[in-house]
Amino acid sequence: MLPHKQIESALQAAVRGALSDADVSAVLVRPCDPKFGDYQSNALMSLAKARKLNPRQLAIDVLAKLEVSAVCEKVEIAGAGFLNFRLKDAALTETLQSAANGAHLFFDKADRPKTVVVDFSSPNVAKPMHVGHIRSTGIGDALQRTLRLLGHQVISDNHIGDWGTQFGKLLLGWKQILNRAELERDAIAELERLYKVINTDCDANPARLEEAKSELVKLQAGDAGNTAIWKEMIALSQKQFDTIYGRLGVQFDFTLGESFYNPWLGAVVADLLTRGIARESEGAVGVFSDGSVPPKEDVFLVNRDGEWVPDPALVRKSDGGFNYTTTDLATIDYRLKTWSPDEIVYVVDDRQSSHFKKLFATFARWQPDAAKKVKLVHVGFGKIMGDDGKPFKTRSGDTVKLGDLLDEAEERALKIVAEKSPELPETQRQEIARVIGLGAVKYADLLPNRQSDYIFSWNKMLALQGNTAPYLQYAYARIKSIFRKAETGNLKAEIKLAANEELTLAKHLLNFGLTLEAVAEELRPNYLCNYLFELAGKFTSFYENCPVLKAGDEATRNARLALCGLTAQVLKQGLEALGIEVVEQM
Ligand code: ARG
Repeated sequence: MLPHKQIESALQAAVRGALSDADVSAVLVRPCDPKFGDYQSNALMSLAKARKLNPRQLAIDVLAKLEVSAVCEKVEIAGAGFLNFRLKDAALTETLQSAANGAHLFFDKADRPKTVVVDFSSPNVAKPMHVGHIRSTGIGDALQRTLRLLGHQVISDNHIGDWGTQFGKLLLGWKQILNRAELERDAIAELERLYKVINTDCDANPARLEEAKSELVKLQAGDAGNTAIWKEMIALSQKQFDTIYGRLGVQFDFTLGESFYNPWLGAVVADLLTRGIARESEGAVGVFSDGSVPPKEDVFLVNRDGEWVPDPALVRKSDGGFNYTTTDLATIDYRLKTWSPDEIVYVVDDRQSSHFKKLFATFARWQPDAAKKVKLVHVGFGKIMGDDGKPFKTRSGDTVKLGDLLDEAEERALKIVAEKSPELPETQRQEIARVIGLGAVKYADLLPNRQSDYIFSWNKMLALQGNTAPYLQYAYARIKSIFRKAETGNLKAEIKLAANEELTLAKHLLNFGLTLEAVAEELRPNYLCNYLFELAGKFTSFYENCPVLKAGDEATRNARLALCGLTAQVLKQGLEALGIEVVEQM
């Protein structure tokens, strides 16, 4: 067992000894400021508060029962009741040794694996994927990878938008103005054109709108011809989505689009009506406030000019069509019945936060027992901005297509590689540029706190210095070049830690698992980005201060090489958890 886990379980046992009724699942240790120690726990303070105990006294009682002397120096009580732990050097060395021997890479599989549905990417059919889709796709993929690495069962589901009123206009366009050659050249662009032309027509001419509506009604009624065209539109769009997913290395277990849930929507609304959860209003059906919570906390109310007014979750339109929320309710129901997940995680733009609040609240009213068994989480994120402070656009003011963005990333990276390493053969330079370009874009998106907007900057994300993917990829390649020069590298050498820089690096390696757990717990990949950036920094100061290949003696050289090897492995594994590749040479 890794030291932090040993400390945690000993601490939990001691807390149970001191407070027999305590729920110890929240008794955790976290890395802390080296001034105080290596790990810290703040759990005693909330336990004491809940019981009106003096936290310092509780800490003294727990300490009396705590047995961690195998891995820690004397445990200290600090401040209002923090516990500070400092690892014994021997425990540190031993953990590095077992990692060097291949027993682990500083993380354990979860004791209690969860089943988690990750709903991410979810583009809409007949529309190109644009720069904004990198957010849901990249964050969702990093989360599914990290959760899987920790042994959780993940079901990734691409909830594509393949149903809705837009298909009336698309069908009309397909039948009247389709350009087959253009469809073959770039299907989504042609579909987008059809939609735009017909949409303009419809705005100007109510008769056209009626025509489009009747195409939609035919589709909804299962008309064979319209269904066939609709299916072709989905297949053509999916082909382009798949090209992008292939480039990004993103995989889904399922692609169950909105249309998959059509058969259940009528029953969902009927059930909501019978149970008195939804009601009719102006011909539509919606879920309204039930007055059970104060207005400020009520997701079915909004404040307009100082007054609280209804903001219902609509589930049926006045024309009988169903809403986004109806589909999402049927989707939760299906997912629970099919996979019994512990959690469903939605990686979707923060602009939909009110939708998800109402959705989760509606589901809790509709199926209270099922709702208690599942955690529904909206993993929201902010916008990508241009350096003019407005949403990121092309020079001509259009949305940036994701495919074009990835092309540009690779082209820009190729220029950098050609300058840095002109001696490498062309095909190798291209492969390096692909890995660096895509890595740079993904990492720049994962690094900020996901709820913040960030400014898209090619120069910043492609820089070899600073908190960027190329910097981390370069750190990895540099370690690999040490091994190429070393020729022999006994990775299983005996670990010795003496210099401060060696100890600091070793302790940071130990925090890899805790970082992965924090990412999985709080659904924030940026923790891992920052961890890896610090790792590369600590490696650099180690490498600058502790000669590796020119170490004084064979044993030191081998021990330091082993430390290099472990750093490289963690960099590679960490980047992989973010969906970012490495190259052996740059
Ligand atoms: N297709 C939607 C959009 O582009 C996102 C779907 C997100 N997932 C969900 N279950 N609502 O806005």
